[in-house]
Amino acid sequence: MRMVRPSRSPRGLFDPYYVPSKLLHRDRELDTINGVYRDSYEDNYGINCLVHGISGVGRTVFSRYFLTKIVPENFDARTVYVDARSKGYAEIVTELNDKIAGMSEAVTVAFDLDQLWIQFKRTAASSPKRTVFVIDNIDDTNEEVYAKLARLSKEINASTIGILNSHDYRFLTKVPATSMAYDFELPLDTYTQAQLYEIIRMRVEDTFPLGLTEEVLRYITDIVCEFDASKPKTSIEALKVLWPLAQRGQEIDSDSVRAATSRITTFGHDQDYMDIIDTISMNDFMTLLVLEAMTEHLMRYKTETYIDRQTLSELVMIKCEELDVKYSDNDIERSLQTLIFQSVVFESGYSRSLLYTLVPPEILHDTALSLRRELVRRK
Ligand SMILES: Nc1ncnc2c1ncn2[C@@H]1O[C@H](COP(=O)(O)OP(=O)(O)OP(=O)(O)O)[C@@H](O)[C@H]1O
Ligand SMILES: [Mg+2]
Repeated sequence: MRMVRPSRSPRGLFDPYYVPSKLLHRDRELDTINGVYRDSYEDNYGINCLVHGISGVGRTVFSRYFLTKIVPENFDARTVYVDARSKGYAEIVTELNDKIAGMSEAVTVAFDLDQLWIQFKRTAASSPKRTVFVIDNIDDTNEEVYAKLARLSKEINASTIGILNSHDYRFLTKVPATSMAYDFELPLDTYTQAQLYEIIRMRVEDTFPLGLTEEVLRYITDIVCEFDASKPKTSIEALKVLWPLAQRGQEIDSDSVRAATSRITTFGHDQDYMDIIDTISMNDFMTLLVLEAMTEHLMRYKTETYIDRQTLSELVMIKCEELDVKYSDNDIERSLQTLIFQSVVFESGYSRSLLYTLVPPEILHDTALSLRRELVRRK
């Protein structure tokens, strides 16, 4: 196992506002937002932007990285972040007002909604510094606050960044007389498998007590890319489950990863594997044999998550010889294609030659073995 320096704290896994020292693979987006805000800062006008992407892709961390790392280095501006998720109008405006008023001043006393807004507007307008606001998690229940804030920003030469998920973005900006005032949009795309892998590895090096093997990291990445659109959030949720185990000194093998990611792959487990394998292999002795050889290997070597095609061929060949069955490489490949097509076996995104399963190999092995024996009996 590759050792990394001991962790300082598990904040990187448990703090939703944790900002990593480096935001990976968002250089283009950071350059864009930095450039636009710098121009607006220098020429003294306000600018509003909508950041959108699927949930879990890193929208919050992108905005917080901008506020906490980029802005302080580049402009003498004040930053205010408000998470609007499940908050009503009054609550959001109160939070905005309290944050902009700063520590010294009294906390908002809400009279009525209009008063509240007027009070906030007065505080915001009288601020000696320019302000960058972020409203995270805009949706159809709170878009009004974003719209008002964006309009106010224009008046007082402040800037507002609104964050929303892809669905709400399409929905809210398509309304004919859109009130979603914004000057430009910044879509955050999902990461490629290689990019996601680097993000997870950085997080592991940052927080994990004993490190994790590269194989385990790849396995998590493979699963998240295959089933959950390359969202870093899901992989970090998986690391959260593994963290206490690793800290106790338990070895993290493929069984632990399967358990930690079972939630995202449940639809795979819901099917009755017995049924699937039963149908695909009614008369298919070879497919059962391939599955048996593969799972046997994975059961024997717990730290090996993948088996490569070459090793598998050799194992099947040995089995065929033992059973005195004719075999060809084509048969093995055809059987594998069937298993892959039925989502019993998966190909790694890193290399087509690496194969893995989601169901514990023990279960697949029992099934394959008993069906194969039955097949022999029937003949
Ligand atoms: N480019 C990146 N570099 C490093 N860490 C990242 C990157 N993108 C995302 N992350 C991490 O992935 C996790 C999820 O990101 P974040 O919470 O920002 O997503 P989100 O889109 O706001 O999701 P939610 O739907 O929960 O609001 C966080 O731990 C974040 O730090
Ligand atoms: Mg978020």
